[in-house]
Amino acid sequence: MNMNKVGINVLGIDTSCDDTAVAVVAGGRHIRSSLVLSQQALHAEHGGVVPEVASRRHLEAIRPAVTRALDEAGLTLDDIDLVAATVGPGLAGSLMVGYNFGRALALGRGLPFAPVNHLEGHIYSAWLIPPDREGEDPPAPALPLLVLIVSGGHTELVLMTDHGAYQRLGGTRDDAAGEAFDKVGRLLGLPYPGGPSVQRAAAALPEGIEAATLPRAWMRGSYDFSFSGLKTAVLHLTRDTGEPLDEARIDAIAAGFQDSVADVLATKTVAAAREYGARGVALCGGVAANGAVRERLRRLLPAELPLHVPPPALCTDNGAMIAAAGYYRRVEAVSPAASGLIQPNLALPV
Ligand code: KG4
Ligand code: ZN
Repeated sequence: MNMNKVGINVLGIDTSCDDTAVAVVAGGRHIRSSLVLSQQALHAEHGGVVPEVASRRHLEAIRPAVTRALDEAGLTLDDIDLVAATVGPGLAGSLMVGYNFGRALALGRGLPFAPVNHLEGHIYSAWLIPPDREGEDPPAPALPLLVLIVSGGHTELVLMTDHGAYQRLGGTRDDAAGEAFDKVGRLLGLPYPGGPSVQRAAAALPEGIEAATLPRAWMRGSYDFSFSGLKTAVLHLTRDTGEPLDEARIDAIAAGFQDSVADVLATKTVAAAREYGARGVALCGGVAANGAVRERLRRLLPAELPLHVPPPALCTDNGAMIAAAGYYRRVEAVSPAASGLIQPNLALPV
């Protein structure tokens, strides 16, 4: 397939947190290149993202990242039709780097510019064709689509009725799901970031040892979530004996925690999909990379409801999802000179 004929080429940039991510996506779905320069090692010793360190590294990385993304796509700036960059939510100092770089690039090339909401970006990751399925032309998600966004900063259950039209059904009342994974990882003495570490520990639970029993906050009568009680329950378990935890105990707590989160997320998502007559379900955001969450949702969903869940690398922050959102929301693209400022506290437009 000649990808140049697939349509509009969008350069997508995300520097909302600690990864410098740049991608080129054709026609909103075909990934021509996707580069994520991780700063994980840089922040690991602090157990979390240090904003000043992140923005400085973005400054160093953004220009070579854009050059590499174009090279890997086999394109030059002449082939780009639209530049899309995350406007918010995220860390101000980080957002500013990618957003202003994208804006300046568009200005210099006379291209339109799409400021993209990072949460909308996560939603549109469900439209991306996974690289190993390119050529299969999998159908795009049908609307209305029930979307669960679970990331480090957000847990939102949303009904998407049209492109750019969202109804918020519920969300977390305290910690985001990813935040809970990260905090529990820290309590268990596991390496940062907690999400992948907790998943690894849970998978290492020796046969014959039971996962720890942990509570589930159902928040009945609403589509809201709460993870702070679960986190406190983990804290108590880590202090139970006053002794340092042995590895099997760490694995058992990790498995019990993961099971509780997966159970609540999947059960409430399926209930919402049924109540609102959704034609499919999308699972997006960093926590969507979690095997237990994916599996539980797949198991509970009725067969007639398709589950759209990107491969793990497209669940966590990336530039391709920003390019896809920019493509589908290109009616909102503006002249870069007229685009506004970054919005660190931006919410989903509902
Ligand atoms: O979407 P994302 O990359 O960045 C934000 O927009 O926040 O999500 C990052 C979050 C972190 O909290 C990380 O621990 C979590 O996603 N995460 C996972 C997994 N991979 C990343 N949580 C559970 N299991 C995973 N495999
Ligand atoms: Zn994100």
